[in-house]
Amino acid sequence: MELFEAIQTRHSLAKLKQDPIPRETIEKLLSAAVQAPNHYKVRPWRFVVLTGEGRNKLGEVMAASQMDRQPDLPQQAFDKTRSLPLRAPLLIAVGVDKPSEPKVLEIENVCAVSAACQNILLAAHAMGLGAKWRTGEWARDPKVKEFLGFEADQHIAGFLYIGYPEFTPDPSERPTYEDRTVWLD
Ligand SMILES: Cc1cc2nc3c(=O)[nH]c(=O)nc-3n(C[C@H](O)[C@H](O)[C@H](O)COP(=O)(O)O)c2cc1C
Repeated sequence: MELFEAIQTRHSLAKLKQDPIPRETIEKLLSAAVQAPNHYKVRPWRFVVLTGEGRNKLGEVMAASQMDRQPDLPQQAFDKTRSLPLRAPLLIAVGVDKPSEPKVLEIENVCAVSAACQNILLAAHAMGLGAKWRTGEWARDPKVKEFLGFEADQHIAGFLYIGYPEFTPDPSERPTYEDRTVWLD
């Protein structure tokens, strides 16, 4: 798929088949991710690839954390939370390294990791996969961070849910750039 076509036709897809994604395909996505620009070449991205049982383990951690924080919720709420990572056969949790020296800025690391995430979304789309970038409370949850091997003060840029699309929706028009742009000639 040509680059501009991929950019113009990528859309978040939530309805994904459970068919497993071949390891080779996942490695292509990760390779696309690390082509992103990053200041001082710090490579501030960290990827945790969750497939199969790994998704269930994440769901257990999410539900347990929710139980700690909101013990009065009905059992169905915990069951729903537990099942959230099962919405795709592949999740890539993307963490952001904290700056390791004064010249490195956290905002710039976040920018670089966001670029890596977009590379994954575009590469997935170009390979016929669907994907959705999700955050929500789970991206800020200390127990989730601990399970994924991140520090409590490290940002999780998102969970990229990836799988073969159930169906391809009609492309919807996005707002254009005009009202977000000034030209200084
Ligand atoms: C940092 C970030 C976090 C996001 N978190 C969520 C989320 O938690 N839940 C969700 O449904 N979509 C989430 N999205 C996806 C947006 O909802 C989606 O990109 C937007 O609706 C535009 O749709 P499109 O991707 O098809 O253009 C997130 C996107 C970004 C960039």
